[in-house]
Amino acid sequence: MKILAVGDIVGEAGLDTLHALLRRLKRTHEVDFTVVNGENAAGRGLTPQQAEEMFDAGADVVTLGNHTFQKRQIVPYLEETPYILRPANLAPQTPGHGFGIFDGPQGARILVMNLIGRCDMQYGPDNPFLCADRILKEAQGKYDIALCDFHANATSEKLAMGYYLDGRFAAVWGTHTHVQTADERVNPKGTGYITDIGMTGPTVSVLGVCPEQSIAMFRGDLTEYFKTAPGECALSGAVFEVERNGICRSVTRIFERFAR
Ligand SMILES: [Fe+2]
Repeated sequence: MKILAVGDIVGEAGLDTLHALLRRLKRTHEVDFTVVNGENAAGRGLTPQQAEEMFDAGADVVTLGNHTFQKRQIVPYLEETPYILRPANLAPQTPGHGFGIFDGPQGARILVMNLIGRCDMQYGPDNPFLCADRILKEAQGKYDIALCDFHANATSEKLAMGYYLDGRFAAVWGTHTHVQTADERVNPKGTGYITDIGMTGPTVSVLGVCPEQSIAMFRGDLTEYFKTAPGECALSGAVFEVERNGICRSVTRIFERFAR
C-alpha cells in the first residue's frame, strides 16, 4: 500500500494548496492513506474548521505539534475527533489523542502516532522514545502497520528515532522544521524514513513567513505579527510504499508547485 505524508500546512495558502493538489497527487501516486500535519494552518495552531478543510481535501488523519493548543477552540474538537492527533508524549492530562488505529486498504489496521521532540523545543514533554515503546506495547495485536510523525527540531533526534523504531514502524517521518531534507531511505530493518518532509505553503518565504518580517526579526527591528508570505506555493511530503507486513519498499519525496 502507499502512504502519503504531507508536510506542515502553513496558513490559508497552505490550505488552498492542499485543496488544489492533494486529490490529484493521490491519484497519480495511487495513495491509499494520507496523513497531513496541520499545526500551522492558522500560522500557529489551527481551528476546527481548518481541520475539517484538511479532511475535505483528502486527509485521512491530521497530526499536530508544538502549536497544537494556540487556538483554544481546537480543544473540544481534539477530544471528539479520533482522526486528529496531538503529540502522544505531552502531559497525561492533555486533551485529545496521541495515537489512533485506523482502517486502511483491504482491512489493514493502521496505527498512526504523533510524537514531539525534546531538543530545542518549548515544552517539557515526556521522553518520546519511551512513549513510542509504551504505545506499541499497549496496542500489540491491534494493528498491522504503524506510522509515526515525529515533530521535532534536531536532525539528530529525528535520525535517532528513525533507527530506534526501525523494524517496528513501516514509516517514520519528521515535521516541524519546514525544510525538506534529501535523506529519504529505507532503514536496515525496513522502516521508511526521512528527517523532514518539508512544508505546504509559500515557496518564497522563511518557513512560510514573509521574508521581510523574518529579516526584520533577525535584525532586531520591531516586528508585527508574522504573516504568511504571498505568491507561489508548494506541497511537500513523501510517499512510502509499504508491504502488508510493515516493511517499507521505497520512499519518494514529493515537492509539487502550485501557482496561487
Ligand atoms: Fe512545529
